[in-house]
Amino acid sequence: MTTWPSWRRPNPSSTGSLRGQVVWITGASSGIGEYLAYELAKCGVKLALSGTNVENLEKVKQKCIGTTQLPLSKINHSSREECLLQKHFIVMETIFIDQIHTIECGPLGDSDVLLKPFDITDFDSFSSHVEAVINHFGKVDILVNNAGRSQRAGFETIDLPVDEAMFKTNVFGAIHLTRLMVPHFKKQGRGHVVVTSSLAGKMGQYRRMSRQLGGKMKAGERRMSTDRCSHLCAVAIANKLDEVWIAQNPVLILFYLSQYLPTIYRK
Ligand SMILES: NC(=O)c1ccc[n+]([C@@H]2O[C@H](COP(=O)([O-])OP(=O)(O)OC[C@H]3O[C@@H](n4cnc5c(N)ncnc54)[C@H](OP(=O)(O)O)[C@@H]3O)[C@@H](O)[C@H]2O)c1
Repeated sequence: MTTWPSWRRPNPSSTGSLRGQVVWITGASSGIGEYLAYELAKCGVKLALSGTNVENLEKVKQKCIGTTQLPLSKINHSSREECLLQKHFIVMETIFIDQIHTIECGPLGDSDVLLKPFDITDFDSFSSHVEAVINHFGKVDILVNNAGRSQRAGFETIDLPVDEAMFKTNVFGAIHLTRLMVPHFKKQGRGHVVVTSSLAGKMGQYRRMSRQLGGKMKAGERRMSTDRCSHLCAVAIANKLDEVWIAQNPVLILFYLSQYLPTIYRK
């Protein structure tokens, strides 16, 4: 069964539609980037994986290759998508994409998963990495800017060099890498840039939300599993959604309210 607001997007794409594409994921050695790599590998996507931890990257690569060599029946793509909210449409979407995920994915070979370790703050090295990835696959279809660090100190206690380092890693690395990829995307006539960011960073509303929930919620609670989050990221990428907020409810709906009805959060 497929349900989707027909006025919006009558034919939602399954992640299987990404098959054969080349996706470059930064921050692929752990967390969301790692699980996104597994999710895409299952769909037959060729991958360039970046991070600084080479040992972890190698493990992720082997798992990507191993995952695609499972019998097809063990690859479960039937799922009920929830908690995927596209901003700018005042609608809480519950997307049912059952049955349409039956895909045939060939196994990925060693050369289908390229490891390209580098430090995202080492901007001078980027050109050579871009060239190497494009030369290896002959193209890049999607760049996923996911490398990033977080820290949870109280705002007033943070030293400026910490902020500067965070911006260098989380913001300028993505900007610079994307800028170097744009000529390639223009040349091939298409390209898709994905950026992961934090809802908490966007609005910093955890404490106020906690109060709304009777003081029961602490930062980090009510978290979605990483594989679930990465699966929803893959669905969002396959459907080229402009902006998605991924979180468990009621956190998601509270964030949404804080964005569009900010006065209700004022003291
Ligand atoms: N988890 C969440 O709840 C959440 C929520 C909102 C947004 N996000 C965002 O989603 C992204 C991934 O988060 P995550 O939770 O999956 O974090 P994670 O498990 O800590 O993974 C971070 C990834 O970024 C890479 N990275 C960090 N600094 C790097 C550097 N200087 N150079 C190259 N790679 C670097 C790490 O690779 P190495 O360790 O190999 O360097 C790692 O692969 C981040 O941008 C984060 O801000 C996460």
